[in-house]
Amino acid sequence: MIILGIETSCDETAASVFEIKNGEPRILSNVVSSQIDIHKKYGGVVPEVAARKHAEVIFDVIKKAFSDANAVNCMRMPRRNEKNANNFSEIDLIAVTKGPGLITSLHVGVLAAQALAAFAEKPLVGVNHIEAHLLSPFLSYKNMELPAIGLIASGGHTELILMNAFGKYRIIGSTRDDAVGEAFDKVAKMLGLGYPGGPAISQLVAEWKSEKNSKFSARGGQNSEFSLPRPMMNSNDFDFSFAGLKTAVLYLIKEMSPRELKRMTPAIAAEFQRAAIDVLVAKTKKAAKKYSVKSILVGGGVIANEELREALKKLDTPVYLPEMRFAGDNAVMIAFAGWKKWQRTKRSEVLRIKAEPNSRL
Ligand code: KG4
Ligand code: ZN
Repeated sequence: MIILGIETSCDETAASVFEIKNGEPRILSNVVSSQIDIHKKYGGVVPEVAARKHAEVIFDVIKKAFSDANAVNCMRMPRRNEKNANNFSEIDLIAVTKGPGLITSLHVGVLAAQALAAFAEKPLVGVNHIEAHLLSPFLSYKNMELPAIGLIASGGHTELILMNAFGKYRIIGSTRDDAVGEAFDKVAKMLGLGYPGGPAISQLVAEWKSEKNSKFSARGGQNSEFSLPRPMMNSNDFDFSFAGLKTAVLYLIKEMSPRELKRMTPAIAAEFQRAAIDVLVAKTKKAAKKYSVKSILVGGGVIANEELREALKKLDTPVYLPEMRFAGDNAVMIAFAGWKKWQRTKRSEVLRIKAEPNSRL
């Protein structure tokens, strides 16, 4: 079975050709066209600009996914003059992100997928973006035991999910305000570190910590000059709140002179990152214990953060992290989640799919 995955929920246009052979998934291509350079100058994603860019590149991205798949020599190359022969005829299923995400961006992927599916008479399934992030570790690991706790940490979501089986999910905690990636992006903006904030903060902190004479490393990672709150870390539920942490950074830097701020920026970034990670890890650990799960699955762009990855690996329950290339938005995870959905439903949704910006898991 060959699946085409399409993803356009935010600022990445992505397509993947994915094969299932004897029950084993095999990635034939993974194309991601990022708009980061375009949105950088605005300090964040501008929805209208994102949608226009998706529309401009989507068919080239899909074509590239096919040519890359051909390069791994698994799909039949079309012969010249061969009637109706194109790689598209080899596809058995199309999977597209239906939400959550930016409505204008989602529309582009959904419409492209519907057009392809309708004209080529292929089945189409709509995939929940959060489910795809949750399942992203399955692209690299097999035989993970369920039930599992899933931690989703991305630019739009921070969620703890109890997974009992494929398709059987329960959200046990969410952020009450900002998502953790959003907090990284906003704090980086306050500190003048640019967009996207997560990579900017984690890179600055890593460089700073590796400096030999850094006060921070001399103190073994503890900063005694100031500390930031760990909001809701010990609350009696599995919810998160990151707006207060962001505001605490704002208050901290408000009184600083530009010179002092420049001097303190790496220490503030490090303490902010540590605070966010402490909360994510503590809540995940608590959830794993309460539900006596066998595995912890992790997904979302923030999981690219090395310090977070290291902290999660120290938990007692086996933790399955996505490979770096599957942490941020990509279409491989959409193809995989689409395949799993197809196995459950065997129902093509061609014209029924709608872009759902607030789609629930
Ligand atoms: O999953 P994703 O690519 O898109 C959404 O579905 O939101 O996540 C993007 C988020 C952004 O907020 C970005 O700043 C954050 O992931 N991010 C990171 C890192 N790399 C990306 N956050 C912390 N550390 C990183 N290394
Ligand atoms: Zn995402």
